[in-house]
Amino acid sequence: MDLSELQQVWDRLGEDDPFWAVLTDARFKGGRWDQDEFFALGKAEVAGVMATAEARGMRFAREAALDFGCGLGRLTQSLAPLFESVVGVDIAPSMIDRARYLNRFGTKCQYIVNDRSDLTIFPDSSFDLVLSLLVLQHMEPRFSREYISEFVRVVRPGGLVVFQIPSARTEWNDSVVSAVALPEDAYRAELSCPDPPTVLECSSRTAITVVAKNLSEHTWLASTQGLGLAVANHWNDSDGVQTVQDDGRAYLPREIPGGDSVSVDVTVTAPSTPGSYLLEIDMVHEAVAWFAQLGSQTLTLPVTIRLAAPRSLDAATNAPPGPDIAPVMEMNTVSPEEITETVAAARGSVVWIDEHSGAGFHDCTYYVSKQTP
Ligand SMILES: C[S@@+](CC[C@H](N)C(=O)[O-])C[C@H]1O[C@@H](n2cnc3c(N)ncnc32)[C@H](O)[C@@H]1O
Repeated sequence: MDLSELQQVWDRLGEDDPFWAVLTDARFKGGRWDQDEFFALGKAEVAGVMATAEARGMRFAREAALDFGCGLGRLTQSLAPLFESVVGVDIAPSMIDRARYLNRFGTKCQYIVNDRSDLTIFPDSSFDLVLSLLVLQHMEPRFSREYISEFVRVVRPGGLVVFQIPSARTEWNDSVVSAVALPEDAYRAELSCPDPPTVLECSSRTAITVVAKNLSEHTWLASTQGLGLAVANHWNDSDGVQTVQDDGRAYLPREIPGGDSVSVDVTVTAPSTPGSYLLEIDMVHEAVAWFAQLGSQTLTLPVTIRLAAPRSLDAATNAPPGPDIAPVMEMNTVSPEEITETVAAARGSVVWIDEHSGAGFHDCTYYVSKQTP
């Protein structure tokens, strides 16, 4: 995806459901994020970064900070009290508009749209801290590497750059959380699709009926407010390699005793690039596991994704509305070796990496210092 397409995607996400686009917790989709909780999470993340820097002896001045890919300013607003000035930069005008509206620090905190692949809007050595969390993974590595070089250029010697980017996808089992799980043998489903789609248009949204039979002896509980059990789907390429982990969700409308079936409609969003894909349908217990992780059989449907047919002006006036084009967030990984190489080429040094696994990715947060000239 090039930068203009990326901008369109994030602008649309910022218009449709900005809080969820920043923190994609299925429970809060559809405008259900509590703003205070959302900003409190940002405060905790900024405090965590500052504490790690402090504990590792990385000290820097507190004049100016940059939050790259600031979204709604979740992190920017927590940086503001710690620095004399802070700048939040984002590619999406809709996010920046909303961030300005939510700003509580007046002119001390500035928000800027930047749709370039560099940060030439800032001179060399402009900031004491450059922070970027949950951003670089959403663009092709050719862009993330260029921004990382720019972070090192715009930070002052003696300053700190902190950015997060996943280094690899992980095995499903790595991300299983067992806290509120049902007995393991409850996660057995037989999935069928009476009317499977075979051809869909790029980025279109389509409701697909799926019948899920509870093959276990346990009752599946009804879901409340996006929590609990759902029929859901991934998209895989024609070799079976996953390209989209989280797409549609259809939560169970009622209890399903062992042996019973339920029919639900899952709204899937077709990939934005044409080609042959596999639509993989599974069930998920939110914050616990995908059923496939625990040995349940998924349902795989081959689907051809094609470009939307152009419609004539006349046809367009009389025809029913076309497909609802939905934005797709891309997810990428970059290896620590490539990151270290990129940082070194920009005359920086990786001084610390925080690593953790979760939700299908191995994540790294890099702490980078700039060599003095
Ligand atoms: C998941 S949100 C994270 C927002 C913020 N960093 C946070 O943690 O709250 C990702 C943000 O990165 C922005 N973004 C994506 N690509 C970008 C780019 N090339 N330049 C600047 N911002 C970008 C998106 O518009 C979106 O606001």
